[in-house]
Amino acid sequence: MLNFDYENKTRIIFGEDTHKTVGEVLKPHASKVLLHYGGGSIKSTGVYDDVINSLKANNIDFVELGGVKPNPRLSLVNEGIKLCIEENVDFILAVGGGSVIDSAKTIALGAKNEGDVWDFFLTNKDNNGALPTSTILTIPAAGSEASSGAVITNEDKELKLSYGRENLRPIFSIINPKIYFTLPANQIANGVCDMMIHIMERYFTNTKNTELIDGLCESTLKTIMKNALILKEDNKNYEAWSEIALAGTIAHNGLLGIGREQDWASHNIEHELSAIYDVAHGAGLAVVTPAWMTYVYKTNVDMFVQFAINVMGVDVAYRDSDKIALEGIKRLKNFFREMELPLRLEDLNIDDNKLELMAKKATNFESGKENLLGGVKKLNWEDVFAIYK
Ligand code: NZQ
Ligand code: ZN
Repeated sequence: MLNFDYENKTRIIFGEDTHKTVGEVLKPHASKVLLHYGGGSIKSTGVYDDVINSLKANNIDFVELGGVKPNPRLSLVNEGIKLCIEENVDFILAVGGGSVIDSAKTIALGAKNEGDVWDFFLTNKDNNGALPTSTILTIPAAGSEASSGAVITNEDKELKLSYGRENLRPIFSIINPKIYFTLPANQIANGVCDMMIHIMERYFTNTKNTELIDGLCESTLKTIMKNALILKEDNKNYEAWSEIALAGTIAHNGLLGIGREQDWASHNIEHELSAIYDVAHGAGLAVVTPAWMTYVYKTNVDMFVQFAINVMGVDVAYRDSDKIALEGIKRLKNFFREMELPLRLEDLNIDDNKLELMAKKATNFESGKENLLGGVKKLNWEDVFAIYK
C-alpha cells in the first residue's frame, strides 16, 4: 500500500424529504446565495419549489442562474462569475447532477480569482480561493457532490478538461433517493456506468497489498449492478435508489483510491468524445472502458482475473488466466448491454474520421510534450488510437 493523506469534508445529508431542510442547513454559511440549476427538470419535479420555499422560510437572500447543459459550458460559467461578483454572492447552491455541480464549482473558482477561469483547466495551477458550494443531487452518477473536481467544456475550442483542488469540494450535499424516481432509463444507465468506472479506474492498479480497498471496490461494484437491474424493472424502488445513490457518492469521494496508484485513462479517452460529439459521459464510458480493458489486461492479468472472479462471478474452473480475464470483460459488456448502454462508437453515431485527432488531443501530442495516459499501462497516442478503433 502507498502512503496517503485523505480528508473528505463534505457533509452528506441523506434521506426522504431532506432537500426541504436546505434553508436551515445553509443559514449559518450564507448571506447571499446563487441558486444554480439545469434545463428545467427541477421545475417539473417540484424540487425547485421546495428549495425556494425553504430558502424563503429561512430568510436567505438569493439570485438564480439556470440553463446548465449536460457537458457544462464555459460561457454559462462566465455568466455566473459575473453575476456572483455583481450581486455579492457568498455561497453557491447547485441543484442538479454533475453538470450543474461542476458549473457551480467553476463559478465559485472564477468569483474568487482574477483573470480567465479557463486558465486553471489549461495549466492546473493553484488557486487563491473559491466560494463555498453545496449541492442537492438530482441524479446519482458523476460523484461531483463529494469530489474535489470539476469538468468543463470550452465549446469554442471543443475541449473538455478537468480541474480539481480540495477547496472545490462541496461543504454539504443533500441526497434524497425519491428525487431520482423521475429519471429516464437512459440517464439511470449512464449514471450507473459512470459510478462503476469511477471505482474501476481506482481498482485497476499495479500497486500491491491493497486488500481492504480492493474489497470495498468489489462490494460497491456488485451492489451497483444488483440494484441497477432492480431499477430497470422498478424505477421507483426507494431502497434500490438508496443503495445506488450511496454507492455513487462513495465511488468518487476519494476513499476507494487511497493507498494505490490510480488509472484515469478511460475518463481521459472519453472526454474527447464528449468534447467533440457532445455524448453523455456515462454512455461514452460504456464504449471506452471495455475496449481499454481488452487492450491493457495482459499488463497485469492478475488484477483482471481478480475482477472477473470477485466482481463478475467468473468460475475459476476456466483455469487459463487470459480466458478468465476476458470472460470478466465479456460479462461487464453483457451487463452494459442489459442496461441498454452503447457498446461501440457506431452506437453513438461516431465514425472513424476524428479518431486520430482525438487520440492526439487526449495525450496532448501536438504540444511536443506528450502526456501518457493511465497507470496500469502507460498509453501514448497510438495506444489511444488503437483503443478508439
Ligand atoms: O438539465 P435538466 O433538465 O436538469 O436535465 C438533466 C440532464 O439532462 C437530467 N436530470 C437530472 N436530474 C433529473 C433529471 N431528469 C429527470 N429527473 C431528475 N431528477 O439528467 C441529465 C443529465 O444531467 P448531468 O448533470 O449532465 O448528468 P451527470 O450527473 O451524469 O453529470 C455528467 C457530467 O459530470 C462530469 C461529466 O464529465 C459530465 O460533464 N463529471 C464530473 C465529475 C466530477 N466533477 O467529479 C467526475 C465524473 O467523472 C464526470 O466526468
Ligand atoms: Zn465519470
